[in-house]
Amino acid sequence: MDKFKQPLVPNPSGESSGHSRRTFLGGTSAAVAGSTLANSAVANTLGAGKTRPEDGPRLTGLSKLTLTVNGTKQSVEVEPRTTLLSLLRHRMDPPLTGAKEVCDRGNCGACSVLIDDQPAYSCMTLAVDLAGRSVRTVEGLGTPDDLHPVQAAFCKHDASMCGFCTPGFVVSTVACLEQEPDADSARIRDRLSGNLCRCGTYPHVFAAAEGAQQVMNAGGLDSAGDQGGKR
Ligand code: FES
Ligand code: FES
Repeated sequence: MDKFKQPLVPNPSGESSGHSRRTFLGGTSAAVAGSTLANSAVANTLGAGKTRPEDGPRLTGLSKLTLTVNGTKQSVEVEPRTTLLSLLRHRMDPPLTGAKEVCDRGNCGACSVLIDDQPAYSCMTLAVDLAGRSVRTVEGLGTPDDLHPVQAAFCKHDASMCGFCTPGFVVSTVACLEQEPDADSARIRDRLSGNLCRCGTYPHVFAAAEGAQQVMNAGGLDSAGDQGGKR
């Protein structure tokens, strides 16, 4: 028997279906072609370029707004699509590059900042929504010569490898310790769960957070001198 005439699928009746590999493939191709034609007919009915939401009308124009960044009022003009992360990194003078663009979709926390003292992903925040709001970034917490206790603790506990996640962890730790000074270890871990470290420095990060907590609770920001910071 011609091998191409052998049935591809056993016929439930036990008889040959009569289909060959060629006729099967030919029929499949015709079905796919028919389906493609049908889809393109649907697309033509809807109209070219109107089948995807992103092809619809775009919001344009600039919006003026004033916000406070690290204690300084800033007046800016932004497009509706401009994120806070983009504003900080590309529109501030000098650029505020502490908040990092890593995932750019609210997964990793590397872009964390404080908005009215609440931690937020700046990559997921539209700048246009921040009129009258107050933003704090890692640059606003301390300086190399005058570290915030959390920054000092991250140095002391070696809580950084590549460092991409570190500003976000610092900001989230500050938010945690300011809002919940008596948070226990489990709570601190919970509060930092929105930040990811691909280098796996978590034990050092948690040690730094608890070290900073002790310093801040012992004497507030002024007692950080023994860690190299004075805030
Ligand atoms: S860059 Fe914003 S959450 Fe990852
Ligand atoms: S230190 Fe590299 S991602 Fe955290």
